[in-house]
Amino acid sequence: MAKRSTSSKNSTYILSLPLFFLLLFFPSPSLSISSNVTYDGRSLFISGRRRLIISASIHYPRSVPDMWPGLVEAAKEGGVDAIETYVFWNGHEPSPGNYYFEDRFDLVKFAKIIRDAGLYMILRIGPFVAAEWNYGGVPVWLHYVPGTTFRTNDEPFKNHMERFTKYIVEMMKRERLFASQGGHIILAQIENEYGDIEKVYGDGGKPYAMWAASMALSQDIGVPWIMCQQYDAPDNVINTCNSFYCDQFTPNSPNKPKIWTENWPGWFQTFGATNPHRPPEDIAFSVARFFQKGGTVQNYYMYHGGTNFGRTAGGPFITTSYDYDAPIDEYGLVRQPKWGHLKELHNAIKQCETPLLFGNSTLITFGPLQEANIYTDHSGGCAAFLANMDEEKDKLVVFQNKSYSLPPWSVSILPDCKNVAFNTAKVKTQNSIVEMIDEKLQISEGWSIFKEKVGIWGNPNFVKNELVDHINTTKDSTDYLWYTTSFYIKGGEKIKQSLFVVESKGHAAHVFVNGKLQASGYGNGTEMKFNLTTPVTLKPGRNDLALLSMTVGLPNAGPFYEWVGAGLTSVKISGLTSRTLDLSSHSWAYKIGLEGEHLSLFSPYGNGDLNWKTYSQPPINQPLTWYKVIVETPKGDDRIGLDMQHMGKGLAWLNGYPVGRYWLRKSSPNDKCTTTCNYRGKFSPDKCRTGCGQPTQRWYHVPRSWFHPTGKNTLVIFEETGGDPTKIIFARRQTKNI
Ligand code: GAL
Repeated sequence: MAKRSTSSKNSTYILSLPLFFLLLFFPSPSLSISSNVTYDGRSLFISGRRRLIISASIHYPRSVPDMWPGLVEAAKEGGVDAIETYVFWNGHEPSPGNYYFEDRFDLVKFAKIIRDAGLYMILRIGPFVAAEWNYGGVPVWLHYVPGTTFRTNDEPFKNHMERFTKYIVEMMKRERLFASQGGHIILAQIENEYGDIEKVYGDGGKPYAMWAASMALSQDIGVPWIMCQQYDAPDNVINTCNSFYCDQFTPNSPNKPKIWTENWPGWFQTFGATNPHRPPEDIAFSVARFFQKGGTVQNYYMYHGGTNFGRTAGGPFITTSYDYDAPIDEYGLVRQPKWGHLKELHNAIKQCETPLLFGNSTLITFGPLQEANIYTDHSGGCAAFLANMDEEKDKLVVFQNKSYSLPPWSVSILPDCKNVAFNTAKVKTQNSIVEMIDEKLQISEGWSIFKEKVGIWGNPNFVKNELVDHINTTKDSTDYLWYTTSFYIKGGEKIKQSLFVVESKGHAAHVFVNGKLQASGYGNGTEMKFNLTTPVTLKPGRNDLALLSMTVGLPNAGPFYEWVGAGLTSVKISGLTSRTLDLSSHSWAYKIGLEGEHLSLFSPYGNGDLNWKTYSQPPINQPLTWYKVIVETPKGDDRIGLDMQHMGKGLAWLNGYPVGRYWLRKSSPNDKCTTTCNYRGKFSPDKCRTGCGQPTQRWYHVPRSWFHPTGKNTLVIFEETGGDPTKIIFARRQTKNI
């Protein structure tokens, strides 16, 4: 058993209790950034007091205001001290200078709910945020401001970024929400993980990062700024860690505390892939290891993932659900045993808070993969973390004359250095299972239908002898762009074996030949490009070709992501008599968006009413069809999902609220799935997957508050390829302990 003292860093920041009280009354100027939240190498000080903070990410626009108090309460009940959120620029500034802070985007309301629950807040302004959010949160219009390149030393970008950052800071200041003003915002973030890609930006990289830091500091918010994954963050800005494990992370200065901004307790989903899960034992292990190794703030990204309503999902291909396998599920119900296991962990860590923060740390090693950190403070407090990093074997260790059996890949927490209050691998919380209980639509008025035309409706937006970029054309005002052309087949030309070959930068396309849906093609979460080859039946004479190209959420991260295009790049017909017909530079007529979108068919206030046709039974398996039906509000107060398993791909709304993109795309039965998940060993998102051969997302969350109390609700669906809308049902989400 080797015994040695931890790094010299400890000695610089270990404070005795008397010194702590001195600091409380005479804060040292060298430690102080503001009067209320300061830090040193060991921890944050909030109102002069050293603190360990357990924080939970909940993104306000990924649920609805009615759910916010419940989510915040469930986090508090789960032992959380702070709520962390990004700020979503493109939701707040849909067009230049036009601000929106209502409904799901009411940031101040969300902040006050957190404050009133007695929790702190960590505000990650970004304003680039990634987050699987459309365009990483940056407004698409900014890409079209001449001369703009995002996230580099570029004047237009910096100007807009500074303007928006100021706007948010001023808003928070007006409401006196920063801790320095007596509020509850203890930390603010500028940029997001820029350090990981700074080099790719060449000469513009570092100056931009340094500018972002000093621009942030100049906002004078009185609480510290953080920059995650920013290895070269300057003095006075704390660089923090994002990863599945951050126990080995050290900030870039001994004067900065160890902060973990993103511990991913699950992962996001992409349409066509299986569903990831992270076992609670491993999450608890990672958190315990972090505090064992001197951490001060740890945040779960996400604690409640929620829903990417409407077209807010980033991508491409991020699902509408942003459940994230988080401790609180998409619908706002606690996920057991994850939530309960972490609650017990938080409780155990909090019992160690004083020795952890004020104690001297000693490291003991029991073997190559076993170690303990013991924290003893001057008032006799002692806390120990005994870790076994072996992925296979238990280990019996003797610590202070007592033996302890440490399960593989686990940490035992001893708040008094004697009794194990918690072991990360021993889950005592009951499991819960989720049931989605069918609830047939109670239809109070029958179905109405609107059929989209195949190809150009109204007049084309423009005609060009080339295939244009999809995103540059729609500017994300819609997912849809029609590419249409026609060509002639000579009499006698062989047409039977002809093949239609399309190449696209992404993300998806439906091919219509002479008005009929012929085939669809799409990329996936790892490769957005796709090629589509399909046999076609042509006719002599004129043939009409209409390709409906789609985006499925714009890229949300990566260097220069805003320049990544989408849409068709080549269209050919092969197999004709002695020729391949390359249509790529033909005359193409373009139409942006759908007629139904133009008519606002989804909106209760739209002008589309005259266009709907009523049916007693709606036609089924029809591509490009809008369906409308008036349904009763489901009884009771269970959370509601829309079960779309008999539909194809499209968009849904309830009472004009955007439920989002639905797509019943299945993962491959040959993907790797597990029925049980081995928590031992390093986690990665591919480790524990379920749902092979199933649709990635079958149910689509419809928040309760979107239903009318009077019971008459308008459900509108736009279906692209064909489905059976009579089989759409609601499902009530229930959880049962087992
Ligand atoms: C991080 C990023 C987050 C989120 C996360 C994955 O790299 O900072 O915004 O995208 O990955 O969910």
